[in-house]
Amino acid sequence: MTKIGILHGSLRKESFSKKLAAHVAELFPAGYETEFVEIGNLALYNQDYDDENNAPADYSAFRNTMKGIDAVLFVTPEYNRSVPAVLKNALDVGSRPYGASVWDGKPAAIISQSPGSLAGFGANHHLRQSLVFLNMPILQQPEAYIGNVADLLDENGKVKDENTVQFLQSFVNTFVELIKKHQA
Ligand code: FNR
Repeated sequence: MTKIGILHGSLRKESFSKKLAAHVAELFPAGYETEFVEIGNLALYNQDYDDENNAPADYSAFRNTMKGIDAVLFVTPEYNRSVPAVLKNALDVGSRPYGASVWDGKPAAIISQSPGSLAGFGANHHLRQSLVFLNMPILQQPEAYIGNVADLLDENGKVKDENTVQFLQSFVNTFVELIKKHQA
């Protein structure tokens, strides 16, 4: 069983990112299991916590969860033209202590979204930059910028727009190919 960790960059209850992520989680084929990884509880990263004796308990739980994950899907809004702090914080926490990064070598894919038409381009690319540094093979194509997201969801938060449904399925299929390549 290949485990996909899903991290979303918004904590709000009615988050479009979360709704989109819930839809995408259902699109993986048999043999793939998805897990939503909690990141909202992580204290702000502080290098003093690299000492195991000082580390908040949530850090170890998060790092242990991530160690059991084979690939990571990020679904995020854009905050002030960049990655929401909660997501960047999770990247930083997972990247340390030095030499023990939970991200190293794990295939990753990014979906950014916005209720407007820019679709989180800035967040998508700032996130991409961090993942390159963290040595994560990232899905290059198709890129996933989901704009005008509110119009694409029905009243239950399901993706109702048929083109978007098809696009997300092809996005997942290509991500699965990337994952397989790195498992070979
Ligand atoms: C935003 N929003 C926003 N949208 C955008 O397209 N570019 C941006 O830079 C920002 N900046 C920004 C900052 C902050 C602090 C907030 C709260 C919001 C709007 C954002 O796209 C919108 O609220 C989304 O609905 C947030 O995603 P979730 O929470 O629905 O997943």
